[in-house]
Amino acid sequence: MKYIYETKDICRDFIQGRQTVHALKNINIKIEEGTFTILKGTSGSGKTTLMNILGGLDRPTSGKVLFDNVDITEMSDFDRDMLRRKNIGFVFQSVALISVMDAYENVEFGLRVSGANRKEWKQMVGNSLVRVGLEKRMHHKPFQLSGGEQQRVAIARAIANKPRIVFADEPTAELDTHLGLKIVKLFKQLVNDAGLTILMTTHDPSMIEIADHVISLEDGEVIDER
Ligand SMILES: Nc1ncnc2c1ncn2[C@@H]1O[C@H](COP(=O)(O)OP(=O)(O)O)[C@@H](O)[C@H]1O
Ligand SMILES: [Mg+2]
Repeated sequence: MKYIYETKDICRDFIQGRQTVHALKNINIKIEEGTFTILKGTSGSGKTTLMNILGGLDRPTSGKVLFDNVDITEMSDFDRDMLRRKNIGFVFQSVALISVMDAYENVEFGLRVSGANRKEWKQMVGNSLVRVGLEKRMHHKPFQLSGGEQQRVAIARAIANKPRIVFADEPTAELDTHLGLKIVKLFKQLVNDAGLTILMTTHDPSMIEIADHVISLEDGEVIDER
C-alpha cells in the first residue's frame, strides 16, 4: 500500500477574541493512493479545516502533514504553492466558474494557472471534459448548463492537469440527492479508471457507501473510520 498522505497529530486552533476554537485535535489519518475517501461530519466538525491543511492552503498549529513522506508544513510558501499547483486539484461547493467563459475556456483557464505546457492544453481540456461526460457541452457557458453540469465542469477543471489528488469540499451540497449521487459515482469512476485519488467532504450519509474509505469527524476529532 502506498500512502499519498499521512498526518501526525494535527491540531488547528483558531483564536477568536478571548476564545480559542480547537477546530482539529490530534488528527492521525492516512490516505491511500488510488482510493476514494469521504470525510464525513456535521457542520462545524472540522472538515474544511482539515482539507485546507492537507491541500496546503492552511498550516496546522501543530503536527505534521506528510505528502509522499515529505512534511509539507516545513516547506516554504513558494515550494508548497508549487507542490499544490502540480499535484492537487480543488472542487468547491459553490462552483465558481467564470460566467463569460464557456466550459472549454473555464477548464483551459485552470491549466493556465497550473503551469501546464501550452501545447498540451487542447488535448488536456478535451480529455477531461470527456471524462466527466461533457464533450457535447464544451461551448456552453455556465448559464446554459444545469447545476450538475456546472459542477462537472468544475471537476473537469480540477482534473485537467492530471493531479495526484483532488479535494472536493461538499461538492454535492447545492445539488439534489439524485444529482449529488451522480457526482459521487463520477468520482468513483475517476478513481477506478483514471487512477486518481479523491478526498471529498459531505454531511450527507447517503453518499458514503460508494467510498473506499470513510473518515468520520466530530468536534475536530476522528470518531470512526472504515
Ligand atoms: N478562520 C476561522 N476562524 C475562526 N474559527 C474558525 C475558522 N475556520 C473554522 N473555524 C471554526 O472551526 C470549526 C470547524 O470549522 P470547519 O472546518 O469549517 O467545519 P466544517 O467544514 O466541518 O463545517 C468551527 O467551529 C468553525 O467555527
Ligand atoms: Mg466546511
